[in-house]
Formats: sequence, structure tokens, C-alpha cells
Amino acid sequence: MQKKNKKPLREGKAKILYPGPKRGTIIQYFKDDLTAFNNQKREQLLGKGALNNRISACLFEYLHEIGIRTHFLKCLNMREQLIREVEIIPIEVLVRNIAAGTLAKKLGLKRGMPLPRAIVEYCLKNDELGDPIISAEHIFAFSWATPDELDEIAETALRINDFLSGLFTGLGLRLVDLKLEFGHCEEEDGSVSLLLADEISPDTCRLWDRETGEARDKDRFRQEMGEVKAGYEDVARRLGVLNETSISQNF
Ligand code: TYD
Repeated sequence: MQKKNKKPLREGKAKILYPGPKRGTIIQYFKDDLTAFNNQKREQLLGKGALNNRISACLFEYLHEIGIRTHFLKCLNMREQLIREVEIIPIEVLVRNIAAGTLAKKLGLKRGMPLPRAIVEYCLKNDELGDPIISAEHIFAFSWATPDELDEIAETALRINDFLSGLFTGLGLRLVDLKLEFGHCEEEDGSVSLLLADEISPDTCRLWDRETGEARDKDRFRQEMGEVKAGYEDVARRLGVLNETSISQNF
């Protein structure tokens, strides 16, 4: 596996990036680490990395089919993806359909309340500061993105949310909210394009069973609900990407 042979370019909470085989490519390795509350709660969950690799690859492939440009190139093995190198825009883009998490807490909304419309929020990608919520004004003032880029980001985020909401509805799941990250990539002709980056998985979105309302995402870990892995496996199974034999082995 690449993990043992190469020096990482960067290690985050859930993934490690290694140099890719060609210029402009990177290998994204999915770890088994689960973290919450800004890294204060940590645990290893055997097989979580493999599940997120599969789930995220599957969702990015669906997004390619509807014309969303992403950094994803292909899965290399159980835990690794080949991706395009991008310069990550330091903004976490959240799209919310239903009140939960910090939104419910901050605005005193009942958890589970459908929002009048999908709401896009921006947080600064900075763990030390606890990913503070920011406005478009901050983004423009500090030149994290231009108004045109932010328009493209918000429009793309809403399109992704619409598409994935429909996809998950068909699988008996409710997409409560999700977090997206975007990056800039230099094309061969020298132009710069905006690509969806990072991952979309039960680590980065909330998914509730439509019948029971039970979480199938990282809230099972955050809130000590138990059966965390079963939640992730259920999402993979519904998407048709759970390979029982290989995931149950220690990849
Ligand atoms: P939010 O309710 O703001 O925070 P929390 O997860 O702490 O309750 O999160 C909204 C969604 O975005 C949720 O599905 C988790 C995801 N998210 C991340 O994956 N990473 C982040 O740094 C943040 C702020 C949110």
C-alpha cells in the first residue's frame, strides 16, 4: 500500500494525502479515525476508511454524471483514491435542509424541523478556531474567494444538495445537511477551474432513515448512540457499494 512507502504531503483528521503517480495528481487515503468536537473526541473504527472511500467515490461518480466537476479520478484500492491536485479554498460550505447540530442549537430550532428552504452557510476551515461561521463579507474582505467564485460555489452546492437529496430519498434516507469543500485546479491550457474536492460521506453529512428518523452518520459517534459502523454500512449497502467480505477484513 502507498501508505507505507511514501511520505505524506498532508495529514488531516480523516485522510492522508500522498504524492500521486503523475504531476497534478494526489493519492487520498481514508483513515479509520473518527473525530468530533474539534478533535476532543477521538476513536478508531476499523473499516470506516474503506466505507467512506466507497461511499464518497460512488457519490462523486453520480455527480460527474450530472456535470459537476470534481477532483475524483478513480478508486485505487479499498482505502485510496486517485484525485486531481487542487488548491483548497479555506471555506467549509454547509447546505442544510433540516434543523440539526449547531444550527438547531444556535437558533433554538427544534431538531428535525424542515427549513423553509435549503440554507447555505460558510465556515472558515480552521480547526484551531473551531471552524467559525463566516459571512460573504468576510470571504470577500479577506480575499478567500471573489464574488463570482462564491456565486459559482453556492450555485454548485445547491445543485449537489438537490441531486443528493433526491438520490437519498430514493434509498429511504433523508439528507439533513452536508459539508462541501472546493478547490482551484490549473488546467493544461493554463486556465483555472473550480472543482468539488474532499469527500462526501457519513462523516461529512447527516443522513436519517426516512421511516425511523435514526441517524446513519457521524452523529452516532458524536452522541454516543452506538452501532456507528452499522450506520455507515447501511448507507454503503443502500448505495450498492458494500462488499461484505472485503470490508469486514482488516483493510
Ligand atoms: P454543524 O451542524 O454546523 O456542526 P456539528 O457537526 O458540529 O453539529 O454541521 C453541519 C454538517 O456539516 C454536519 O453534517 C457535519 C458537517 N461538517 C463537517 O463535516 N465538518 C465541519 O467542520 C463542519 C463545521 C460541519
